[in-house]
Amino acid sequence: MKLRFHFVLIATILTSFILYGGLYIYLFTNVSFYFDIMKRTAGIQNRKRSPYANTNILLDKIRPATVSLVSCRKLFDGDPLEMNTTYKLMKNVTHNDIKDMEYINLTQNCSSFRMMRRYITNPLDDVEESFPLAFSIVMYKDVYQAERLLRAIYRPQNIYCIHVDQKAVRGVKEAMKCIASCFENVFIASKLHSVRWGTLSVLDAELSCMTELLQKHKSWKYFINLTGQEFPLRTNYELVKILSVYDGANDISGGTERRWHSRWKDAGKPPYNIRPFKGSVHIVANRDFVDFLINNRTAQEFYNWTKKTKVPDETFFPSLNHNPQFGVKGQYNGTKPSHEIRYFSRFKIWTQRTGTGCHGKIVHGICILGIGDLPFLRASYDFFVNKFHWNYQSFALDCMEELYFNTTINEYEGIENFTTSVYENADIVKYAVK
Ligand SMILES: *[C@@H]1O[C@H](CO)[C@@H](O)[C@H](O)[C@H]1NC(C)=O
Ligand SMILES: *[C@@H]1O[C@H](CO)[C@@H](O)[C@H](O)[C@H]1NC(C)=O
Ligand SMILES: *[C@@H]1O[C@H](CO)[C@@H](O)[C@H](O)[C@H]1NC(C)=O
Ligand SMILES: *[C@@H]1O[C@H](CO)[C@@H](O)[C@H](O)[C@H]1NC(C)=O
Ligand SMILES: *[C@@H]1O[C@H](CO)[C@@H](O)[C@H](O)[C@H]1NC(C)=O
Ligand SMILES: *[C@@H]1O[C@H](CO)[C@@H](O)[C@H](O)[C@H]1NC(C)=O
Ligand SMILES: *[C@@H]1O[C@H](CO)[C@@H](O)[C@H](O)[C@H]1NC(C)=O
Ligand SMILES: *[C@@H]1O[C@H](CO)[C@@H](O)[C@H](O)[C@H]1NC(C)=O
Ligand SMILES: *[C@@H]1O[C@H](CO)[C@@H](O)[C@H](O)[C@H]1NC(C)=O
Ligand SMILES: *[C@@H]1O[C@H](CO)[C@@H](O)[C@H](O)[C@H]1NC(C)=O
Repeated sequence: MKLRFHFVLIATILTSFILYGGLYIYLFTNVSFYFDIMKRTAGIQNRKRSPYANTNILLDKIRPATVSLVSCRKLFDGDPLEMNTTYKLMKNVTHNDIKDMEYINLTQNCSSFRMMRRYITNPLDDVEESFPLAFSIVMYKDVYQAERLLRAIYRPQNIYCIHVDQKAVRGVKEAMKCIASCFENVFIASKLHSVRWGTLSVLDAELSCMTELLQKHKSWKYFINLTGQEFPLRTNYELVKILSVYDGANDISGGTERRWHSRWKDAGKPPYNIRPFKGSVHIVANRDFVDFLINNRTAQEFYNWTKKTKVPDETFFPSLNHNPQFGVKGQYNGTKPSHEIRYFSRFKIWTQRTGTGCHGKIVHGICILGIGDLPFLRASYDFFVNKFHWNYQSFALDCMEELYFNTTINEYEGIENFTTSVYENADIVKYAVK
């Protein structure tokens, strides 16, 4: 009897231990799993994930391999030892590129090309999906570098016009054509110009792309023009957030200082009392403004006038952006002189510019950036950086790529935040024509 009681007691204790223990373990794992999800979704805040892209498998498909041999993270931190090691290493290491012929081969099977080159083929979320962007890329050589740029900025909701110089060698034209053929939203400009700096050809190349971008895609919101040697400092998500804050404002610099007047003096009086401005060649413009440039008769007459000026592309866009009497959305309607206005479209070091030194080499007065410039680039608020040569201090571009894709993924996962406060108070935004 006693023995039996003990047996029952022990059995009960054992059973409950097994039962509750199991329940405890079950609860514990599930609760911590639940907290894990809570933590992840808290970071995402109001970013709604695309139903296509909610697996880590997809993320693994788009994250390129981390740069081997050097630590990009340390280079971005400006770690002197890592810098030294990298400089030494770069004397020995040669970076392999993908040759034009290889691109022609690889693109025979587009789905394997997109997969192998890790293109992002689904919109990452609906904020980005509902804010498509239009890009032009003007290039004449280095398919490998241009393709790396395209791979970074490529999203299926955007549209891309590639203008390959008429003078480019056949392999370049052919390879770019093959790459474009692998994407519905990437095309080669149907009219290719032979681009020479300072001539109308620069403007014509851009205008060809703009015209086709307007025709081919009905809902893009902003236009950004690039060269094949630039690289993004902002992810697509960040661009979308910033440009939403811009609310139509254009980012097109323009000044009318006396020293520029010699460019216009032989052209006679501009039509419609347009006051000429000189600006940089990098533009970020809203769709209405681009439509005005291409389709408005006043703009066309002004274009005819700029044909007679020196370096017409540097006058056409800036002037139309800085003459707010036309009342076109996004134009600058402030009174501050240009050199006091902060523009964000490019990070670029001219040798004349003081304050920030070039850690790379200088070609035609512009800094070709090196690994020593990485810390400064990471801290920059600009949209894109000009410029890199992929085979000059090749780890510089490699690390930019690593940072770009890391940030893209971290923002998607909600591990990293992005705030637009710097842009909200910019003059170009405050004084934009609504
Ligand atoms: C990018 O992410 C990888 C993997 O998490 C990490 O090892 C690397 O240091 C990161 N690179 C940079 C530049 O943050
Ligand atoms: C880096 O190299 C320079 C010269 O090659 C040397 O003077 C300096 O001490 C080195 N710095 C570090 C942290 O190793
Ligand atoms: C560079 O290569 C040479 C010859 O192959 C070798 O002696 C040297 O140690 C290498 N230097 C570095 C930093 O790897
Ligand atoms: C391209 O592919 C063909 C046949 O598939 C091959 O013979 C050729 O070597 C390849 N060329 C390059 C540059 O990879
Ligand atoms: C293209 O590549 C994909 C993925 O690698 C493969 O499944 C498919 O069979 C290939 N198509 C052709 C026509 O070779
Ligand atoms: C611009 O010039 C061209 C060629 O001279 C002419 O055909 C065209 O009508 C002009 N456009 C406008 C809007 O004046
Ligand atoms: C960007 O577009 C402007 C306006 O057409 C043009 O003047 C400039 O050359 C273009 N810049 C680049 C980098 O293509
Ligand atoms: C062109 O722009 C001017 C100035 O904004 C405007 O008065 C005119 O109506 C526009 N023309 C067309 C055809 O949109
Ligand atoms: C430009 O700003 C002035 C002064 O604030 C304002 O009167 C004018 O209406 C603005 N022009 C446009 C086209 O918005
Ligand atoms: C992102 O921002 C939110 C709210 O501003 C903050 O609570 C959170 O800690 C931030 N996350 C990271 C990873 O910085």
